[in-house]
Amino acid sequence: MDKSLPFEGSSLSRRQLLNFLTGASVATTAGSALYTVGKFFIPPAESTGEGGAIIAKDILGNPIPATQILAEVPGTRALVAGLNHEPTYLTVTESNSLDSIGIVDNCTHLGCTFPWNPMDQQFQCPCHGSLYAPNGTVVRGPAPLPLKIVHVTVIDNSILISTWTQTDPRTGEKPWWI
Ligand code: FES
Repeated sequence: MDKSLPFEGSSLSRRQLLNFLTGASVATTAGSALYTVGKFFIPPAESTGEGGAIIAKDILGNPIPATQILAEVPGTRALVAGLNHEPTYLTVTESNSLDSIGIVDNCTHLGCTFPWNPMDQQFQCPCHGSLYAPNGTVVRGPAPLPLKIVHVTVIDNSILISTWTQTDPRTGEKPWWI
């Protein structure tokens, strides 16, 4: 890998980057920018399970065990490769489990990736300033739509991610991505 990391000059922490490269990226750094992270996903062979679910993986295509993410403190957002290799945020809940809803790291304005800001409790897009609540609804545009969500299930320490096809619980409407 090229030694000149594309994150240099950004406030992405080294720990966050290393975690992402080796397993899960734990979004604990306020104001960090993951704008270019999506470009690093190298499509590995996709293994699909029941209902089209895939196993959450790291950037190298290795499955990420749930225990690796659950070792982090409640409230942590961990970035994994999800459906179609999209960077997807998983949340460690207060009861030390994984939230059953994942948030896809793809701004609905023009598709930038974005960091989680734990101080503000928001996803904050560095490209044009869109802000999203923890559940992915728009707090401030120009983003026109809530963030895409996915189902997250843990089975035998594997994290399964599948498409959300039901009514979007945030809008009460059919998901815009279906
Ligand atoms: Fe996120 Fe424009 S791409 S605000």
